[in-house]
Amino acid sequence: MEYDVKDLSLHEKGREKIEWTDAHMPVLRAIRRRFSREKPLKGKVIGACLHVTSETANLVRTLKEGGAEVYLTASNPLSTQDEVAAALVEDYGISVFAVRGEDRELYYKHIHKVLDKKPNITIDDGADLVSTLFNERKDLIENVIGGSEETTTGVIRLKSMEKDGVLPYPIIAVNDAYTKHLFDNRYGTGQSTIDGILRATNILLAGKTFVVSGYGWCGKGVAMRAKGMGANVVVTEVDSIRALEAFMDGFRVMPIREAAKIGDIFVTVTGDKNVIDKEAFELMKDGVIMGNAGHFDVEINKQYLEENAVSKKRIRHELDEYKLPSGKKVYLIGEGRLLNLASAEGHPGEVMDMSFANQALSCEYLIKNGNKLEKKVYKVPDEIDREVASIKLKEMGISIDTLTPEQAKYISSWNEGT
Ligand code: ADE
Repeated sequence: MEYDVKDLSLHEKGREKIEWTDAHMPVLRAIRRRFSREKPLKGKVIGACLHVTSETANLVRTLKEGGAEVYLTASNPLSTQDEVAAALVEDYGISVFAVRGEDRELYYKHIHKVLDKKPNITIDDGADLVSTLFNERKDLIENVIGGSEETTTGVIRLKSMEKDGVLPYPIIAVNDAYTKHLFDNRYGTGQSTIDGILRATNILLAGKTFVVSGYGWCGKGVAMRAKGMGANVVVTEVDSIRALEAFMDGFRVMPIREAAKIGDIFVTVTGDKNVIDKEAFELMKDGVIMGNAGHFDVEINKQYLEENAVSKKRIRHELDEYKLPSGKKVYLIGEGRLLNLASAEGHPGEVMDMSFANQALSCEYLIKNGNKLEKKVYKVPDEIDREVASIKLKEMGISIDTLTPEQAKYISSWNEGT
């Protein structure tokens, strides 16, 4: 079996972690049991480019149980849990190409290793697999039935490929399922971002001015949890509706150049580049802490810090101190990469359960229906989204009401008015 992981001897620790996480992913377990009986993915090759975490491990186990041959590579150089990668190879017989801290060259070499296996389905988190396939391996397109995309940034990239007429095959936007973004993006990013900040810094959040740039589902989660910890939350936005929403949710809203002067902690979650740039660095107080929870490491202009700082020092695990020419020190978590995975362990199993249930069911859907789909970005079918929510409720022991025939008739008719 081909693989490239840091150290296979870490596998026991990885297996324990995967099993612990699995106990918190009941929907995926239910799907795995069915997949094991029905083998809906039999004979298909799945190439996955995802954060190599214990949650992802349980997804790829499920796909394998469904009969697929699965190859996994990392979707970020700093998010790989080396012990999990080792366990996947040693204990679960899954080919993994991922080493935490790999450089850009190795990152892409690993993507090519997965592409070499001629996938029939691609699963992406950020669209690096599809874009590399399109740019450099066009010969492989004919093997692919379709793909799925995990994250907001990836969906935006893929929609832009669709708009430019270059999307190579149909894609299911798993991110856009309700049972994905309402929970993973909001509660997952909310909690794991706070977790990453605390692990990197061990600072008290109560009483701090905490600036959140971007008020999408992830930003809403981060702002809500920071407020819960007693921070004074400020939101910066470019979208007028989201800015209004943030304000009416009780947060102060202002441009980054104003927020820069008062913030103690800055978190970017916008999906865009240079949100915190030279001007903001110059206005910041001494000692501020910055981190990014968006997909790519472009939101905080790290290059400016690298080129202009008079010194740089790693002072804690995943925390760098930059001394600026003014003498002021600023701190950057996780090299500006998504800090919830670089400095913590990403979202907990309970939310990844639903995200990855959508992934597993979308693979099954693509195999059944891929030949009817066009080269477009599709929503997760509503039946799948609702099935995930129903299984989750059932597994959590929560029952809900059903419409009476009278109610069902009432909401589907127009003729009963005032
Ligand atoms: N994205 C965010 N958190 C994650 C996790 N724990 N595993 C995989 N992908 C993630």
